[in-house]
Amino acid sequence: MLLGDAPPGRGHADRRLVTRWAIAAWTVQFRFRVNDPGSIDSSHGASSTNGSPMTQSTIQLEQVCKNYGNGKVVHALRDIDLSVAQGERVAVMGPSGSGKSSLLNLICGLDDPTSGTVSVAGIKILDLNDDQRTRMRREKIGMIFQTFNLLPTLSAVENAALPLRLQGMHRKEAEHRAAAMLERVGLGTRITHRPDEMSGGERQRVAIARALIFSPPLLLGDEPTGNLDSATGEEILVLLDDLQKEFNSTLFLVTHNDLVASFCDRVVILRDGHILKEQRPDPVLAGSH
Ligand SMILES: Nc1ncnc2c1ncn2[C@@H]1O[C@H](COP(=O)(O)OP(=O)(O)O)[C@@H](O)[C@H]1O
Ligand SMILES: [Mg+2]
Repeated sequence: MLLGDAPPGRGHADRRLVTRWAIAAWTVQFRFRVNDPGSIDSSHGASSTNGSPMTQSTIQLEQVCKNYGNGKVVHALRDIDLSVAQGERVAVMGPSGSGKSSLLNLICGLDDPTSGTVSVAGIKILDLNDDQRTRMRREKIGMIFQTFNLLPTLSAVENAALPLRLQGMHRKEAEHRAAAMLERVGLGTRITHRPDEMSGGERQRVAIARALIFSPPLLLGDEPTGNLDSATGEEILVLLDDLQKEFNSTLFLVTHNDLVASFCDRVVILRDGHILKEQRPDPVLAGSH
């Protein structure tokens, strides 16, 4: 069944219900994965997110601090200044607890900094209400997760079309574009397959197609090859490499993997919530692609 199709003999109301369910499920997955307990991700009544002045950077953090807790405060991020230019590739590395997820949550607008400002594609996130943040994510940010986060009941083409459907595009047009995008990621013969009928590498290709289908200025990855064997992980990196050049999206990847980092222009090392150092990726690995 295609996204939005009704079961035989039933009407438009059912079709709308299926679509709304898929949208709600995807939104919940997104929120659950980034582990933010406080955000509200309503998709109703979204209004324009284009009110703030533009900057040159796709991601701009100025003096960002994030504390958790009231009694014994955890300083998850401390005085982070970070600017990522359009088309740049940045890997964020650091041990568990160093603040990587907190950083992603702030960039997605799923959480607010305790102090400082975060801007994405020239939009200052603190200026947005929840609906505007939802819209910002839909329009500006493609996400690739370690666990793929595809909707299990939808086919590859329905999964890849979902962001366009959320933006209000008609199903036929959205799935036409999604099929072309799946062709681009090497899955032209798999478009009707559901996630449980695909390998891990194929699922991640669908997720990449979904992330890029609306040409977002920013592509965020959370361990995008973390659940794949090394050969498949490398194939995915080569694909990301090609697509990033083609789409000129900014790539911002959280990773523990040196090979992933080697595909980036810059590596930001987090330690105890602050930027320990920024460096070029390992030159030996960088020469491998
Ligand atoms: N919701 C939260 N409440 C309290 N402490 C948190 C919360 N989220 C993260 N932390 C703490 O903030 C620090 C940074 O966590 P996190 O950003 O998840 O790091 P990483 O993703 O690098 O493992 C850790 O000490 C973690 O325990
Ligand atoms: Mg984390």
